[in-house]
Amino acid sequence: MTTDQPLSPGRARQNAIYTAGVFGDRPRIPADFAELERRAKATMSERAWAYIAGGAGEGSTMAANRAAFDRWEIVPRVLRDVSRRDLSVELFGSRLPAPVLFAPVGAGELARPDSDVLIGRAAADLGVPYIFSNQGCSPMEETAAAMEAVRPGAPRWFQLYWSTDDDLVTSLVHRAEAMGAQAIVVTLDTTMLGWRPQDLNIGSLPFARAEGIAQYTSDPRFRQIVADRLAAPDRPAGPKVRVTRSAVAALASMARRVPGPFLANLRSPVPRESVQTFLDIYSRPSLNWDDIAGLRDRTDLPVVLKGILHPDDAARAVDLGVGGIIVSNHGGRQVDGSIAAIDALPGIAEKVGGRAHVLLDSGVRTGSDVYKALALGADAVCVGRPHMYGLAIDGRDGARDAVANIIAEFDLTLGLAGQTSVGELTPEVLHHRR
Ligand code: FNR
Ligand code: LAC
Repeated sequence: MTTDQPLSPGRARQNAIYTAGVFGDRPRIPADFAELERRAKATMSERAWAYIAGGAGEGSTMAANRAAFDRWEIVPRVLRDVSRRDLSVELFGSRLPAPVLFAPVGAGELARPDSDVLIGRAAADLGVPYIFSNQGCSPMEETAAAMEAVRPGAPRWFQLYWSTDDDLVTSLVHRAEAMGAQAIVVTLDTTMLGWRPQDLNIGSLPFARAEGIAQYTSDPRFRQIVADRLAAPDRPAGPKVRVTRSAVAALASMARRVPGPFLANLRSPVPRESVQTFLDIYSRPSLNWDDIAGLRDRTDLPVVLKGILHPDDAARAVDLGVGGIIVSNHGGRQVDGSIAAIDALPGIAEKVGGRAHVLLDSGVRTGSDVYKALALGADAVCVGRPHMYGLAIDGRDGARDAVANIIAEFDLTLGLAGQTSVGELTPEVLHHRR
């Protein structure tokens, strides 16, 4: 967004909100994160809130992400003519209007049905990339088509979880290429799900109800695996089923979510076998550097490694020729007591030295957080929970406005701190409070 006053994204958004206010209208999406979270919680089911808002262990990594941002302080400069500001950045040959992406989020339908399609449209409205989750709730082709209808060429990336079945990995990568993904993001920090008390305490895992496995059930290789398992002569008898209300609801949920008519699915073994197959082959704890080297042979798309927190891992990734890394602790969902992502960033950015793109997520809530992350060496940031909360409150418009608010505040912060483009952001614009 090259911005000239008075229509910079920040001022345009303020004007629109204040003008509507004259007529008595208030924005559906609150302008601050605390209120956004409160209102989202009020609209969400207990299961949705546990999964989306929850974190690993005692929640200390989530708290650390925020505390670390707060320790970095902006030192504004004045009298520098900031009337024209340029928020745009280039990633993998595409110019983005602002340095913000929609992070991949699995099982988003817990917040609202058709989550991925709605989030895709929201990202396309803004012209910033949406990273589709491998744990998405619509086949990637459908989400891509919905984005195309809003904005031809709307940028999209695909996030891969490395399954234990290599052919499935290849199939997902080829589908991502075909649906127009501009990069493959391999998430490294979730080879197993972290210890998540909020979900554990209510015994809730979305995938066990077939929520968030649409990339699998729409995949020809996955469906073949399911068919082979069902046809296997020595197929182990499944666990004995107790007929409880919850079990019936789970079966109905599965039957609704796998392809095919609901009633036929209710009678078919395929939905349950699909869930069981997914649980058996989801992600691979043995994942290692050789696998990543091998991925370079399977696709020409840029590879981005997500979940890097140590400078030596970043250096190794760059040596392997990856196009980018995402400094991330998965929004505090994996390792309790982990280093805050923003604290890991400076050392990593220094080690990478411009040889690959560096992105950051985990705890980004405001425009001033975006400013700090860019100053500390990120080329762009990804936003997770804020867009999910916007989605829960107001669907596509809510997801869009939650991110538009962050971009608007970033625009104003940049100008008010005395800069006019993201290239001017260096560590010198910050002060670190001990
Ligand atoms: C995630 N995240 C995630 N990451 C990923 O690579 N694949 C995925 O499927 C998911 N699923 C997912 C679901 C939910 C509900 C959340 C909140 C997060 C992690 C996500 O991409 C990102 O790293 C964090 O959300 C960033 O932290 P904040 O912005 O939520 O603090
Ligand atoms: C999560 C996984 C799906 O964070 O990435 O729940």
